[in-house]
Amino acid sequence: MALVGCGSALPAARVSNTDLSQRVDTSDDWIRSRTGIAARRVASAAEPLTLLASQAAEAALAHAGWEAADLDLILLATSSPDDLFGTAPRIQAAIGASGAVAFDLTAACSGFLFALITAGQYIASGAVRRALVIGADQLSRWVDWDDRRTCVLFGDGAAAVAVEAAAPGTTDLLGFRMRSDGSRNACLTLAQTTETEPLLGDLEAQKGGFAPIQMNGQEVYKFAVREVPQILAELLEHTGTDPGALDWLLLHQANQRILDAVAERFSMPGERVLSNLAHYGNTSAATIPLMLDEAVKDGRVQPGHLLASSGFGAGLSWGAALLRWSGPQG
Ligand code: UT7
Repeated sequence: MALVGCGSALPAARVSNTDLSQRVDTSDDWIRSRTGIAARRVASAAEPLTLLASQAAEAALAHAGWEAADLDLILLATSSPDDLFGTAPRIQAAIGASGAVAFDLTAACSGFLFALITAGQYIASGAVRRALVIGADQLSRWVDWDDRRTCVLFGDGAAAVAVEAAAPGTTDLLGFRMRSDGSRNACLTLAQTTETEPLLGDLEAQKGGFAPIQMNGQEVYKFAVREVPQILAELLEHTGTDPGALDWLLLHQANQRILDAVAERFSMPGERVLSNLAHYGNTSAATIPLMLDEAVKDGRVQPGHLLASSGFGAGLSWGAALLRWSGPQG
């Protein structure tokens, strides 16, 4: 699999920490010092996930120099779909990729990495030649805006990566690891509510609906600083890669303190650790491709660069992949 293009799209409205402090009892100083976040984007009702994800998809197609008709597969990683039956087909229609099969994949903040690895397997098998992997979330729909422990962390965004079959014997997905631990699911949930309605006699039908995000921040923090260095170390060992050979650490953007802890474990200097948390907060499945797109477009990530990536979050789920960027410069 070769990584050959990327693109992103963000909602227009920017909400700063100071803006948020008008809604909940918090402060710019608390949020910045505990998380590194200064602002986030919040989608309006006129910016549904389908729209942002389609814009990101079109930008990635243009960057790769492809037509929508070239696509065989569209994989949408999201936990906040416009339609629980699947949002990827709406994107397929919006961009006119009539020949592509399109479906959603849900693994919260690990979703993009899991989807990229999944696309890599379809390509490796020969079933798919060209695919778009999209990470898009609008968790603003699902946070409790009166809960200061969670609402300050999340933001909305969408980003996509174009991948295709590589020349025989080569790949930009140089290795990967994926893990889940459902026994710790309660640490971070966006769960179905248990409301029911009488149907027939004693039979109660469950009503659809989800409760706002519930998170045990300290447990998730401990999980991340323990498991992410561990899975990255396994990945580097498995691929025989010296940390010194990495050009970039491309981690899920959840908290600057988590990025710093992982960087320290691998003695990576801060300037090699990609971070845009300050501008966008945690955009869940979108963080990794959004960060990649920014760093490719501003010229930090160059053709041939080696990136160690890790996604982690609800599930609990986590994973890591060793990637090479082969797309155009800038
Ligand atoms: O994609 C994965 C998604 N989740 C994560 O990555 C979350 C991982 N966890 C974290 O990033 C951190 O645990 C947080 C940033 C969520 C919280 O930082 P912390 O250093 O673990 O703070 P804490 O939960 O221990 O809270 C410390 C204090 C508490 O006050 P008391 O009980 O000591 O008086 C909280 O009530 O800070 C208070 N607090 C706040 N104060 C101002 C919690 N949230 C806020 C807030 N503003 N927004």
